[in-house]
Amino acid sequence: MEIIIQPTDEAASSIAARLIARLLRDKPSAVLGLATGNTPRMLYRELARMSLDWSKVRTFDLDEYVGLPPEHPASYRQFMWENLFRYVNIAPANIHVPDGMTKDIPGFCARYEGAIRAAGNIDLQVLGIGRDGHIGFNEPTSSLASRTRIKTLTAQTRRDNAKFFDSEANVPHHVITMGIGTIMESRQIMLLAFGEQKAHAVAHAVEGPVTAMCPASVLQLHPVVKIFLDEAAASRLTKVDYYRWVYDNKPDWQKF
Ligand code: PGA
Repeated sequence: MEIIIQPTDEAASSIAARLIARLLRDKPSAVLGLATGNTPRMLYRELARMSLDWSKVRTFDLDEYVGLPPEHPASYRQFMWENLFRYVNIAPANIHVPDGMTKDIPGFCARYEGAIRAAGNIDLQVLGIGRDGHIGFNEPTSSLASRTRIKTLTAQTRRDNAKFFDSEANVPHHVITMGIGTIMESRQIMLLAFGEQKAHAVAHAVEGPVTAMCPASVLQLHPVVKIFLDEAAASRLTKVDYYRWVYDNKPDWQKF
């Protein structure tokens, strides 16, 4: 794991954007796994500002609420449109977001997995992290081998996500999410976390044991993971000086 601590979320997002930009230049048909939520907004804003060619890029979103139509303002399809897709030349046929309105959830999930495989698997997966350590909507105790499926949100995640709805009562209880096994098959992964409220989950994920009680801790088993943090999200890590030392002393060929 590479831990990149920056003074602000803006600085961290800008480095993360540069990495994605480099991938899209090296591989114009790259397959991106994308996250929603407050955390990646700045990353997407930065990407939208860069003059990148998205015409061949394929994207798969991590998750979607069950029962929300794509045009609902809190749906993740809408989020992606508002925060990124409307600003870039991505082909609509190359955008994949789980269908929260499907009548056949297991069948849809199997097809979503098949579509990821058919695209050649995800080159780079963007992740946020929940306060309970979830990635995608894989809540604590999710199988570390799980695939795309329906999940039930915890009460805390529903409260945390009420900010995107008129009221907490309107937050759906169920979601479709890529599984942890699905996420782990990505060639590289970047996780972003900002703010003091994420510090506990980040410390568990990076320095704690690998456990389904903190799904993000599974990333310790992935060979190419970068964790982008602001100071507040890094505040509970014990080896901060080492992470800074590593970043400041990268060999030139490894710099980004
Ligand atoms: P947030 O959500 O970016 O809105 O904090 C992150 C997550 O729940 O994964």
